[in-house]
Amino acid sequence: MGRVIPEEIRARVQELREQIHYHNYRYYVLDEPVISDAEYDRLFRELEELEAAWPELVTPDSPTQRVGAQPLEKFETVPHRQPMLSLENAFSEGEAREFDARLKRFLRTQEEFDYVVEPKMDGCAVELVYERGVFTVGSTRGDGYRGENVTQNLKTIRTIPLRLLETEEPAPELLEVRGEVYMNLEEFRKLNEQRLAKGEPPFANPRNAAAGSLRQLDPAVTASRPLYIYCYGIGEVVGRRFETHWEVLQTLKRWGLRVNPLTERCRGIEAAIAYHHRLEHQRHGLPYETDGVVIKVDSLALQERLGTKTRSPRWALAYKFAATQATTRVLAIEVNVGRTGAVTPMAIMEPVEVGGVTVSRATLHNEDEVKRKDVRVGDWVLVQRAGDVIPEVVMVIKERRTGQEVPFQMPSHCPVCGTPLVRPPGEAVTRCPNPDCRGALRRAILHFASKTAMDIDGLGEKIIDQLMENGLVRSIPDLYRLTEADLIPLERFAEKSAANLVSAIQKSKAVPLPRFIYALGIRYVGEATAQLLAQHFESLERLAQASEEELLQIEGIGPQVARSIREFFRQEKNQRLLKELAALGVRPLPPEKPAAAPGLAGKTFVFTGALQRFSREEAKALVTARGGKVSSSVSAKTDYVVAGADPGSKLAKAKELGVTVLDEAAFLEFLERSG
Ligand code: IVH
Repeated sequence: MGRVIPEEIRARVQELREQIHYHNYRYYVLDEPVISDAEYDRLFRELEELEAAWPELVTPDSPTQRVGAQPLEKFETVPHRQPMLSLENAFSEGEAREFDARLKRFLRTQEEFDYVVEPKMDGCAVELVYERGVFTVGSTRGDGYRGENVTQNLKTIRTIPLRLLETEEPAPELLEVRGEVYMNLEEFRKLNEQRLAKGEPPFANPRNAAAGSLRQLDPAVTASRPLYIYCYGIGEVVGRRFETHWEVLQTLKRWGLRVNPLTERCRGIEAAIAYHHRLEHQRHGLPYETDGVVIKVDSLALQERLGTKTRSPRWALAYKFAATQATTRVLAIEVNVGRTGAVTPMAIMEPVEVGGVTVSRATLHNEDEVKRKDVRVGDWVLVQRAGDVIPEVVMVIKERRTGQEVPFQMPSHCPVCGTPLVRPPGEAVTRCPNPDCRGALRRAILHFASKTAMDIDGLGEKIIDQLMENGLVRSIPDLYRLTEADLIPLERFAEKSAANLVSAIQKSKAVPLPRFIYALGIRYVGEATAQLLAQHFESLERLAQASEEELLQIEGIGPQVARSIREFFRQEKNQRLLKELAALGVRPLPPEKPAAAPGLAGKTFVFTGALQRFSREEAKALVTARGGKVSSSVSAKTDYVVAGADPGSKLAKAKELGVTVLDEAAFLEFLERSG
């Protein structure tokens, strides 16, 4: 006999679930939370506790059910009620116009079509089935007719609602939603870095990473991967009729499903082509990978009349961007010594154009990667560029081998200083252990002097080589010992240029603390992390003494980063470096106190949309460190709204109330002005 569950418990559980679903939607889909994280955690914990006490009340759509399912032996397959088709491709304006002309001929019309244009997401296609508003089954595309049942994995993705939002419109009896699960580029890079560090093969691209993460038998693995979804269409629907594709997308949004905000409706093919050009320029700034534009006839009645061919609908077209992959030949495999002493094999290739840029070098990551991909000198390879990262070799085209190719052998000695290289057991990276290795030093100086670090104007690769070759610079502090008289005798230098370089070096002595921390080249400490550290510790001395535990207290600093920082300051040669720099008068400027930041102190900021340079948390920290306040909603008391990409309704509200709106560049400038 089941026990009797008190009515108030039942009601409270129900209420908590509704609230949590709603706040998930505000947070993950709209990016506009209306309660604090702590309040949210309290609701969630209360629900978890009630469900633990009354397990009979647990339902599959409860927000607590996102993680925790048992690993599967293998995936079941599920049929798609309507086939998941693929798209016909076009690669030029001409082909896009031909598509439009074909539709007009087919329908015997001269009239322009309304098209919906959307970024073509490069991820993994999925179908989500909602029965009376509850997410029941999710599957991959498979062969288009049957896919793999990946419901448990999809449930771990926060942007997939477990229950549709019914505040504006009741959910239909059945709704099949189609969309693309993808990974952001930044997070994809981090994931690969971690995999390489663990000696695991990296994913070739964000698409493989998304697909691989989704097809994990253990949902806990999927849950640990940063996946998102954009919904772009429907399959079978019972209980709701639509007239246009645009209406479909707007309705999906109202039900709490995530639709790409860059989606537009336009009239005629020329407008669609113009959208393609705009997106092609914009795409390198987007946080995810998109490989083209999908052009769809808006009217569902016309879609029906046009019908489908065997594998793709007649009413849609994927108009692709210039390829970011190309094939070329490997001329040599060189090894580079990085600033941490890591020795990285690089493929030197016949120059080839990839996505509008000429490429002649590509990283091969490490020894195991070269072995795994079996890249040999003389091989034809496929290279790719994703976003702005260093190009990489995707695979060898083995069919084109002649037998003359030469396998790669990791050198036993450092190509720069001749020291025997080491590769600790269990590690993927080979290193030059010589702390005075010139290869590492050269890189370290290059990084130290770079624009976003100490910003030493005129200290580029060639000059660094020259200074090192002439024995003038054997360490970073040596830079500050350079005089005009040292430089004038060198080639490429005259009085004026020597004076300029010395003055640029001297000027860098008073650099803001975050830039100095970044300039040190501590592993895993990029610009944003350096910013966080500077804010927290306010001086180099305090940072140098921080324990791992203390570092871990800072939001945004994980164990790997904390360990690496600790290790850096523990090493004697780094301690020596800092001492010498201080003795030479290099004194990073402490972050200004809030009182000294008149522009920000006491002002209230609201953020909306995604920022490129910082996470929300970092941006908030920057404001509060300067004495400003951050609020989650716009009101008459708001001083500034900072609008990133795809801002939400807060932007409209700000405009309505006449609140000053800053874009990311203006916000950065504002921060800089206020210290
Ligand atoms: S519509 C019948 N819209 O592209 C139309 N597809 O080559 C079906 N894709 O398997 C697709 N972004 O995974 C559509 N905005 C978008 C898309 C998109 C990415 C993928 C989808 C599909 C493949 C077709």
